Amino acid sequence: MNLLRGLPGHPFHPPLTGATIGAYTFATAMAVLSKVGVSEHNTATAWWLALVTGLVFTIPTAITGFADWLYIEGGTPLWRTATIHLSAMLTATVVFAITAGAGHADYTDGSVGGGSLVLTLVGYVVLAAGGWLGGAVVFTHGMRVVKLVDEPASERKEAGA
Ligand code: HEM
Repeated sequence: MNLLRGLPGHPFHPPLTGATIGAYTFATAMAVLSKVGVSEHNTATAWWLALVTGLVFTIPTAITGFADWLYIEGGTPLWRTATIHLSAMLTATVVFAITAGAGHADYTDGSVGGGSLVLTLVGYVVLAAGGWLGGAVVFTHGMRVVKLVDEPASERKEAGA
């Protein structure tokens, strides 16, 4: 299972999330630029290719996250946050997959339609919310952190989630 989870202090999931979120962020920026007419054809091409890139990165990202999730004790506050994170990320993935499928015609036409833009933005908002919760799994609950720095307890309590 360590092949999927990484080493102590070097979990595989966090760096993969950077690649995945980066691809979707670029796709979202390209969709907006295309819609406002900045190099419309080129940015529409970049939008769709970045969406597909994000979907490909999502596969190892979700597998490594799932491998870590299996180690969490069910019913705990950490488990609840991680499970909502999981659900948000799966929802964002489905929205992006639908966007890429339905938006293929926009890609070939070289123009991002209104529906594709809305779907991309919806996927991105869900992704950002899920990323926030992923951060809480690590930075609030301390999952996969080998050595916690000594911080005033109140700060950690205020962080919530
Ligand atoms: C598109 C897919 C996903 C993205 C972009 C993503 C993103 C993130 C982010 C940003 C963090 C915080 C890490 C950090 O800031 O260093 C995180 C942590 C975490 N995520 Fe995900 N996540 C995804 C899918 C999943 C899935 C499907 C699961 C569970 C089935 C999952 C479980 C976890 C767990 C357990 C953590 C705690 C730290 C760790 O395991 O390394 N994630 N995720």
